[in-house]
Amino acid sequence: MTFKQASAIPQAALIALQSLNNGLIHTRKKVLINGAGGGVGTFAIQIAKSYGATVTGVDHTEKLEVMRCLGADHVIDYTQEDFSKNGQRYDLIFDVMAHHSIFDYKRALTTQGQYVMAGGDLLLVYKMLLLKPWLSIPGDKKMDLLLHKPNQGLGSIQALFEAGKVTPVVDKCYPLIDAADAFQYFAKGHAKGKVVIKI
Ligand SMILES: NC(=O)c1ccc[n+]([C@@H]2O[C@H](COP(=O)([O-])OP(=O)(O)OC[C@H]3O[C@@H](n4cnc5c(N)ncnc54)[C@H](OP(=O)(O)O)[C@@H]3O)[C@@H](O)[C@H]2O)c1
Repeated sequence: MTFKQASAIPQAALIALQSLNNGLIHTRKKVLINGAGGGVGTFAIQIAKSYGATVTGVDHTEKLEVMRCLGADHVIDYTQEDFSKNGQRYDLIFDVMAHHSIFDYKRALTTQGQYVMAGGDLLLVYKMLLLKPWLSIPGDKKMDLLLHKPNQGLGSIQALFEAGKVTPVVDKCYPLIDAADAFQYFAKGHAKGKVVIKI
């Protein structure tokens, strides 16, 4: 593992791993990842595929190719299609960029399905934090919010990397002197995978 790859892993890969584990990925067949072409999502596709799931990745037009290359079985361009309204149902929805109402997400889940939110629209994140206990009635569809635990699961990511199942996707690597450019590029939200600053 190069230093560049190693630096891309800790937060993004662990948000993906912890969210998918919360969503009981080992028991799920049909998985949708919303925001799958960014830093967290590119790890999530690979981790979900390593569990044998059928993965649908949702992201911007420019990221469809990278999602396919990482193993996504189906891709949806969010600028063209709303996955919550196309009639498909998923066992697990992992949401890196929440933008839909909680009820849209519930509708897109199978009967025993689970939704895990990692980030997105702040109002939705707060709503989820407040309403979570009432949204997941036992036996019903489960709604969850990830609270990232630093470093928990790093060993599992290392094992997946060594098995050739997970590789960090680094879009660009900037020298420290160009850190401002790196943040500007990241802030535009168009990076495919991670942006790294090299010291
Ligand atoms: N839960 C926790 O404990 C915790 C801790 C740290 C961070 N986070 C969260 O984790 C997330 C980090 O994501 P990241 O590093 O992967 O960000 P990223 O690299 O910017 O990726 C996000 C992806 O979502 C896409 N996207 C934007 N709007 C979308 C929409 N409406 N539908 C589908 N996809 C959309 C973006 O594409 P375009 O912009 O090109 O359209 C981008 O490819 C953030 O939401 C952050 O708040 C959570």
